[in-house]
Amino acid sequence: MSGSAGGSPFRARAGAGAAPQACAAGPPSDRRVDRVLVSAEQIAARVPVLAHEIAAALGPSPRDPVLLAVMTGALIFAADLIRHLPVPLRIALATVTSYPGTATSSQGARLKGELPPDLAGRDVLLVDDILDSGRTLGLLQREILARAPASLRTVVLLRKHAARSLPIVCEHVGFDIPDEFVVGYGLDYDGYYRNLPAVHAMVPATS
Ligand code: IMP
Ligand code: MG
Repeated sequence: MSGSAGGSPFRARAGAGAAPQACAAGPPSDRRVDRVLVSAEQIAARVPVLAHEIAAALGPSPRDPVLLAVMTGALIFAADLIRHLPVPLRIALATVTSYPGTATSSQGARLKGELPPDLAGRDVLLVDDILDSGRTLGLLQREILARAPASLRTVVLLRKHAARSLPIVCEHVGFDIPDEFVVGYGLDYDGYYRNLPAVHAMVPATS
């Protein structure tokens, strides 16, 4: 480490002479991680099956396919899925926010930044972690279809058993789960728990 007498990057960021800043407090304490809903073993067995289904649906001559992963929740699922897809494809990212901070119900989907400019005439595979209200995928599907792709298929790891506000077409679903807030394998609560290998229910800390 160079450049600061104390050696701590946190102190260095506070600036010369400033009081040291407290580190982030960690996960919120109002909820806790509870039972496993989908185990790491179940996910590991299901992902190659989904990839096989997708490859079969794309057929022997896919049209310059692009896998569009919805950040940040689909990061881990997409990374695993891609490695089982025997298809030459390109990867693109879309960022949508709908559950800011500690919200546990959709606050309305909003696209951050731009979609890739070159979706026209290509097979697009939209990958997300979970289908809940349908706002996120509804927004993305509208935006993608407006760019005239050759085809659009949507894959989600999880689909909540909920009355959706939008009728969403989703060709490939990993697991149907109950209508509970979940974390792990990419899904977060206030940014935490994405690195848990299984999908867990998140419950009030008092329960
Ligand atoms: P929708 O727009 O309500 O369908 O929600 C989809 C997005 O909200 C997903 O891409 C997730 O990022 C997030 N989300 C929905 N349900 C959960 C959950 O139970 N845990 C964590 N994130 C969720
Ligand atoms: Mg998401």
